[in-house]
Amino acid sequence: MITATDLELRAGSRILLSGATLRVQPGDRIGLVGRNGAGKTTSMRVLAGEGEPYAGSVGATGPVGYLPQDPREGDLSVVAKDRVLSARGLDTLLRRMEKAQTAMAELVDGAENAKAVREYGRLEERFAALGGYAAESEAARICTHLGLPERVLTQPIATLSGGQRRRVELARILFAASDGGSQSATTLLLDEPTNHLDADSITWLRSFLSAHEGGLVVISHDTELLAAVVNKVWFLDATRSEVDVYNMDWRRYLEARATDEKRRRRERANAEKKAAALHAQAAKMGAKATKAVAAKNMARRADQLLAGLEPERQADRVARIRFPEPASCGRIPLTAEGLSKAFGSLEVFSGVDLAVDRGAKVVVLGLNGAGKTTLLRLLAGTETPDAGQVVSGHGLRTGYFAQEHETLDPEASVWENVRHAAPDTPEQQLRTLLGTFMFSGDQLHQPAGTLSGGEKTRLALAGLVSSAANVLLLDEPTNNLDPASREQVLEALRRFAGAVVLVTHDPGAVEALDPDKVIVLPDGTEDHWSAEYLELVQLA
Ligand SMILES: Nc1ncnc2c1ncn2[C@@H]1O[C@H](COP(=O)(O)OP(=O)(O)OP(=O)(O)O)[C@@H](O)[C@H]1O
Ligand SMILES: [Mg+2]
Repeated sequence: MITATDLELRAGSRILLSGATLRVQPGDRIGLVGRNGAGKTTSMRVLAGEGEPYAGSVGATGPVGYLPQDPREGDLSVVAKDRVLSARGLDTLLRRMEKAQTAMAELVDGAENAKAVREYGRLEERFAALGGYAAESEAARICTHLGLPERVLTQPIATLSGGQRRRVELARILFAASDGGSQSATTLLLDEPTNHLDADSITWLRSFLSAHEGGLVVISHDTELLAAVVNKVWFLDATRSEVDVYNMDWRRYLEARATDEKRRRRERANAEKKAAALHAQAAKMGAKATKAVAAKNMARRADQLLAGLEPERQADRVARIRFPEPASCGRIPLTAEGLSKAFGSLEVFSGVDLAVDRGAKVVVLGLNGAGKTTLLRLLAGTETPDAGQVVSGHGLRTGYFAQEHETLDPEASVWENVRHAAPDTPEQQLRTLLGTFMFSGDQLHQPAGTLSGGEKTRLALAGLVSSAANVLLLDEPTNNLDPASREQVLEALRRFAGAVVLVTHDPGAVEALDPDKVIVLPDGTEDHWSAEYLELVQLA
């Protein structure tokens, strides 16, 4: 259970939340929602005890499992499987058992050997007492469901992709929380848990979370997940610095919020009408000296009427996202021949050929780990192939949007980041561009590393726009975006005249792209797009 009392949260000088009292109890499955930048991640960090509130207090009883939105940097030399097992302290026990086993096999001295046998017996007893053997297979089961095959689990974290690392973290947290079955005492705090999951994993996660009784707060842009899982909703409204608590499931929440919005608008309209009438009356009466006091009172009442209203919610402002005007280029701006890539002993793909025609729309499909991100990195030139080559055609200009936002410099400000992406663009033009992407004022000086997930996505897209790229390489461009901003990206995709190579789990993004070609990894098979491939998108 987690309780937060009189919570005040700030971002710089902005007040995100003030005077909120929040409680997460067993049986709660809470969806924490709000626009990009509203303060969802900030709130969750504080609930997890990893961030200090500006004012107020947070207390937790029982264990808390927290999945942050960004993959965190821990000890990267640890093997993935041990990282998962460490959640219940089983990794060190297993290692020591292995050591004792070797000692038993190798020690010839009778007394020493007997000691090793006793040591092994003792360790094994503890391992079994902790539910070790069952737990180990439980961990393996969770990992499989989250798209982490045995092969990946034996690799050190350092060699894993950002998505794989996050899945390992998620597996670790769910493994810890599954101690005690659905009676688990762990409160789960999950910030965008589906970002790197394929459809099968998401389906499994949904049922896992629906059965979890220890208390849950989940931030997700996946409304299907919210609809399936949550029984309460916290709506974080940045314009009022408040959390509206809805003790109901997702469908009823959507209705209730629509009703609330309507009521607010109606109340405001009524109050404004009344106040206007009072003011008009006061003005008339004010002309007569005998009625001056009454007129003043009337005017005051009108003002009070307006002051008593909840502040008007800023109409949900939305970025007007457009992709660049592509610079002219030859008929086939980008080709690749015989691309191969391996990490250590793990071959991702080999012998991939492809050609991207001017204005072509290409979707890259493949299961988790089939190398989609790797292929885009090779095409973007941020990674070199082990064999084969990427050939630039006449006039090629690529614009790369990276899944993990690694094209952004986290230390540099919002302004410096776009400046860097477009060194020749006049200052005023850049300001206007940033404005349409909803960056202005103080936020221009904010270090990119402190931006919210959705804001980072927006900034990276703004960088693309200023680039005049004629081949866009887009890796999950709709991740982290709130529904209104996602629509904008889809619209931009529909209109873009240049070529696009797209990696996505989002069927809506594929439909918006209206692809003419598909590349299926790891084989690198090229095919004409057909509707049957749409099913693969969700599996991918
Ligand atoms: N050091 C900082 N200085 C100024 N503003 C900051 C700082 N750190 C965070 N912010 C701002 O605080 C706001 C809340 O961020 P937060 O990450 O909590 O949003 P979020 O609701 O999780 O958004 P998203 O849906 O995009 O993940 C954002 O506008 C962010 O830019
Ligand atoms: Mg966030």
